[in-house]
Amino acid sequence: MSLIDRYAVLGHPIKHSKSPRIHRLFAEQTGQLLEYSALEVPAEQFQTAVTMFFAEGGKGLNCTVPLKEIAWGYADRKTERAQLSKAVNTLALQADGSILGDNTDGIGLVTDLIDNHAIALSNIRILILGAGGASRGIIAPILEQSPQTLVIANRTEDKAAKLAAEFHSKGSITGCGYDALKNRQFDLILNATSASLSGQLPPLPTGLLAAGGNCYDLAYGNEPTAFVRWGLENHATKSLDGLGMLVEQAAEAFFIWRGVRPKTRPVIELLNLERRH
Ligand code: ATR
Repeated sequence: MSLIDRYAVLGHPIKHSKSPRIHRLFAEQTGQLLEYSALEVPAEQFQTAVTMFFAEGGKGLNCTVPLKEIAWGYADRKTERAQLSKAVNTLALQADGSILGDNTDGIGLVTDLIDNHAIALSNIRILILGAGGASRGIIAPILEQSPQTLVIANRTEDKAAKLAAEFHSKGSITGCGYDALKNRQFDLILNATSASLSGQLPPLPTGLLAAGGNCYDLAYGNEPTAFVRWGLENHATKSLDGLGMLVEQAAEAFFIWRGVRPKTRPVIELLNLERRH
């Protein structure tokens, strides 16, 4: 067994994951001694890989696409936010040997918006594009900020309506198809579809973004995503991608594991610099 505490991110594919770089920077910054690696794990090997990792003394894991839903099923116990999101991106070994499952994606997004970009969510009109796993993970933390309205729009309208219904008790939320967005306006539009990754966009009517509004794509890349470009073309005050969310969700996971909160700004700045070169 290694003397250094071991952590890893599991995913498929995982080669381009920035998580090892982010957690190593956090460890260096906070003086924590740990190892963090990236492991290629297809869904059918998840159970075996995770059981072995913890049996061999591993302390914690991050799980990414397509493993978050399986990780949710694996955890012995889940936080309320993980319970609601039906997905787990962080597994942490507990003192009693059990495995806690958490989801830090939503809080990562909200922290990035509020703390790093000064975009307050209370009392504004928010639109989420997409009704898959990525949307589900961010709804509860957004509703906690008391927006004026939260609308989920999805290509398959029924999925948006069902997802919204699940969160009715937590705030003002409705679901609809893209057609129903005509003549409506929002102060913040969040793209949680997987369309952007393949350079595609949902059909968004012109005038959808209110004057002074902001856009945020949960996805990120070395080049601006299709949705970030849409935001710029539609005069968004800020049109951001999900790099900050990635670093903030990692910081929250690091805190769960180590009890220490790393500074995120220097890491975001460094990663931003690196992708420009
Ligand atoms: P994730 O876990 O990343 O959210 P997912 O559960 O497969 O992945 O959901 C993908 C989301 O992107 C869905 O909301 C999907 O819309 P449908 O439910 O109608 O399939 C949305 N999506 C994917 N490609 C899209 C496209 N080209 N245009 C609009 N929406 C798209």
